[in-house]
Amino acid sequence: MSKSAEAGLAELFAAAKAAQANAYARYSHFHVGAALRTPSGAIYAGCNVENAAYPQGACAEAGAIAAMAAAGERRIAEILVVGDGEALCTPCGGCRQRIREFADSATLIHIAGPKGVRRTFTLGELLPYSFGPDHLAR
Ligand code: THU
Repeated sequence: MSKSAEAGLAELFAAAKAAQANAYARYSHFHVGAALRTPSGAIYAGCNVENAAYPQGACAEAGAIAAMAAAGERRIAEILVVGDGEALCTPCGGCRQRIREFADSATLIHIAGPKGVRRTFTLGELLPYSFGPDHLAR
């Protein structure tokens, strides 16, 4: 990886970690942070926000995407998700589809643990043969 790519990833990791520290996860106690970069270079972050009515909880990725959209941006260049524990904190099925809306099959999804990135996937690997905006283009 080039030095600037490495620095960029470190920046994304720091933003996701900072959001993770604010996760509202009083039911699962599983704190997640997400940070995405847009082609403009801006970074948007989010954390999971749970709810006493369990299905109303929101994932960290959804928060980061909402922040991006609220800022008027519409493209994810890359996204990083950080969670604790041994297992890879890969996005849930619903969030893979949420990412898909603003990304393509080559978009990188970095999965991090407390110490940094553990694995990087493409969206195409995590959500093959996906349905997206192009299917509805008229
Ligand atoms: N969670 C996320 O926020 N993102 C993921 O990628 C996986 C799971 C959250 C949802 C819920 O608040 C908690 O983690 C346990 O599932």
